[in-house]
Amino acid sequence: MLLDRSFRRTLIARLLLSVGPSTAAALLVAAPGCGEPEAETADIRCFAWDEALGACLDRAQALEELESIYTSCDDRIVSVESDGELRDGGCCYEVIAEDKSDICPMEGRPFTLEGRRVTAAPREVEAGWLARATASGAGGQQPSVADLTDEERATLAGGWLRSALEEHASVASFARFALDLMALGAPSSLVEGAHIAALDEVGHARLGFSLAAAYRGGPVGPAAFPVPPAVPIAPDLAALARAAAEEGCVGETVAALLAAEKRARAEDPAVRAALAAIAEDEARHAELAWLTVAWAIGAGGEPVRRAVVEVFEAAAASLGRRPPPEAEPGGGRAAALAAHGHLARADLRALEGAALAQVVLPCARALGLWKPAAGAARAAASA
Ligand SMILES: [Fe+2]
Ligand SMILES: [Fe+2]
Repeated sequence: MLLDRSFRRTLIARLLLSVGPSTAAALLVAAPGCGEPEAETADIRCFAWDEALGACLDRAQALEELESIYTSCDDRIVSVESDGELRDGGCCYEVIAEDKSDICPMEGRPFTLEGRRVTAAPREVEAGWLARATASGAGGQQPSVADLTDEERATLAGGWLRSALEEHASVASFARFALDLMALGAPSSLVEGAHIAALDEVGHARLGFSLAAAYRGGPVGPAAFPVPPAVPIAPDLAALARAAAEEGCVGETVAALLAAEKRARAEDPAVRAALAAIAEDEARHAELAWLTVAWAIGAGGEPVRRAVVEVFEAAAASLGRRPPPEAEPGGGRAAALAAHGHLARADLRALEGAALAQVVLPCARALGLWKPAAGAARAAASA
């Protein structure tokens, strides 16, 4: 699968130029062989719950409920591992999900705690997270739902809600990233970039909740973000650079390309405007990540570089263990959903693979942070 050539080329140029030729030369060192696949990971998943109804659902009921909410590409929950915990209008559970690198492209920068991706529970109320009209019009338009079936509207509402909750989590992720940078002596340009990016993510979340509300026909927003009183920050430059490489150089570069591809296939003006804004912002967030990695390697040397190399090796290894494309319903329904920014899981996986092979890994290779092993090169070439 080929990504839009113009956006892809522009993004590669932006990422490499943002690091700068002198920094690129400093990073030009050989990378070792490929890493091991990641294991299953645990996540926290929540759904809205009125405490007046009593205790949270049991694990079996919770699994059913979660599967009905998380209907998009990352819904393959294997099991619910804990009893429900009431958290500010929601019930939250620890769940085991299949390895997302094979299932679901990251749409933006995740907030992780002890290796688990955390998002807020959705709330079916006006929670102050709906978009306001802007001068560009990106926040004030409503999608046209008149020609959609109830099933299509439900799918679109679920997909945009999941996306909005991930964007909402990205706000917290950049807030923590700004503290990481401060604690490790980063230059002001990076700290400034992190704060600007957090504000961008507020806008993305508003757009997502607004679209989800329009498709479902009623307000929706996030419950309080479920973080503990003490949030750990990166202990050293290697940890900071590893997270920036995973979440930004890989995650946000992929997110920018996915948003651009969705926009190219979308027909609804409100959806196209939202995706255009998101694609542009995510491209800047990707630039910030590559700049952060370059600064951290310059400041911390070989141990930091090695941590970053491992991230790209893992990304390359993930290309080699992708399952064959699933047979999914195409035709009119797929076209109707794509017109409103929703792509099938198999399409998303193929696009993620193309983004890794055509943008992320070539950039990493140009900067001396990844060198293809024979198997990885074959996988990248076929993605
Ligand atoms: Fe975003
Ligand atoms: Fe982002």
